[in-house]
Amino acid sequence: MPTQPPAKPGFKRRPHGQGPDRRHGGKHGERNKESTAAPAPSAPGYDLRALAVRLVSAVLDRGRALDDALATEFSSGPGAALAPRDRALARLIATTVLRRKGELEAVVATFIEKPLPEDRGLLSPILLCAAAQLVVLEIAPHAVISIAVDQARRDRGARRFDRLTNAVLRRTSERGREILATLPGARQNIPAWMWTRWSSAYGEASADHIARASLEEPALDLTIKTPSEAAEWATRLGGELLRTGTVRLANPGARVDELPGFAEGAWWVQDAAAALPARLLGGISGQRVADLCAAPGGKSAQLAAGGALVTAVDLTPQRLERVHQNMARLQLQAEIVAADVLTWRPEQPFDAVLLDAPCTATGTIRRHPDILHLKRATDMAQLVDLQTHLLDHAITLVRPGGLIVYCTCSLEPEEGERQIERILAGNPDLAREPITDDVTGIDPAWITAAGDLRTMPFHTPGTSPEHGGMDGFYAARLRRKS
Ligand SMILES: C[S@@+](CC[C@H](N)C(=O)[O-])C[C@H]1O[C@@H](n2cnc3c(N)ncnc32)[C@H](O)[C@@H]1O
Repeated sequence: MPTQPPAKPGFKRRPHGQGPDRRHGGKHGERNKESTAAPAPSAPGYDLRALAVRLVSAVLDRGRALDDALATEFSSGPGAALAPRDRALARLIATTVLRRKGELEAVVATFIEKPLPEDRGLLSPILLCAAAQLVVLEIAPHAVISIAVDQARRDRGARRFDRLTNAVLRRTSERGREILATLPGARQNIPAWMWTRWSSAYGEASADHIARASLEEPALDLTIKTPSEAAEWATRLGGELLRTGTVRLANPGARVDELPGFAEGAWWVQDAAAALPARLLGGISGQRVADLCAAPGGKSAQLAAGGALVTAVDLTPQRLERVHQNMARLQLQAEIVAADVLTWRPEQPFDAVLLDAPCTATGTIRRHPDILHLKRATDMAQLVDLQTHLLDHAITLVRPGGLIVYCTCSLEPEEGERQIERILAGNPDLAREPITDDVTGIDPAWITAAGDLRTMPFHTPGTSPEHGGMDGFYAARLRRKS
């Protein structure tokens, strides 16, 4: 269990894994959401901070995925009016809160003397967003504090806490970093169930390493459609060519769709680790390959760019729309099928099958810190059951002699290694095709003793740790003998 110092009453930490924290607002948060859309005039920087608070509240109070909340804000919500730079800062503040909520709550709780009532509107997300700016992002305190006080005043539920907001944040700006340094560190932000699982699977030191890597703001990784042009694109984009072939941009400083090569479909966004499973199929030119659970289509694009005749299958029509859009922009071909993989059966078996199964996604916390707050230990059993049925069916869709790659972006062995042990034990006509350094750039440290791929958020695909980590992925390669 992570050691967490006792929080002051009134800003008591919700034990992780017990559902969204309604105390931030819940029903009241919904009601108060309206009141944070501040009437003009607002101080410079107010609107982006109001957006950050709405994003944090959407995840913590209403259990929404951060990407969904961002999409709503930027398509039809008040966030749509913000300049790209302001959107980026709002997003950074919100992701910092989601990554470091445990530590930030402990810091703020130090300065709250008396228990706070349940009904306090958006006070908690306002304080957390301000604390993130003061102690992590080190933004000058004056504007941060005055805007937070203004936010509290404009929120019906938090209005009566304006003086408390001012006092707590002043003290946070003076002593917050000092208090932060006394806390147990990264593990304080990890739900107990995840920490316990990672410690028992990989040992406490690795669990700590995962927790620390998960606090990092990830780089922007791109897969280049024509791999022989990757070095050229790295130079053009001011990025770095990683040894796995991914081009990494440390700080793109621009919207993705404004970067060179986006409109012409020269590359797509894909984490360096997520780009590895498709490459395990080796030479696929001219082969019929099924990409099962394909949306939004990063792996389908890789397979099509490699010359395969791709059938991309996914259950969710909205997500398949993204596959259509991506393939059109990239000028790549694939047959795109809306179907439940559990029952889908084409007339002909495939030369190869890639199954990127739905999972707890605990390997992607760097990119999706909302996972820390949205996933529950109890989600696992249902997902493992789904993966079991998907894998059982997937192996029947490949011809004798064909390859199957099974992968998940999860750190949990039940969603990776255990699935493969199970399927191999029950199917003597399947054999593991161990992964070696036949795939360029794969580090031997990422390969398990059994010959599967197991990347960790703290593994670097660069030449040194400063190049940043990558998603935690599991992938196994199997061959159907008969
Ligand atoms: C991990 S994501 C896939 C990511 C994708 N392979 C990529 O690289 O861009 C899992 C996908 O599985 C899909 N899915 C979940 N259950 C499914 C089912 N029974 N049949 C087909 N697709 C399913 C979800 O809609 C989701 O798009």
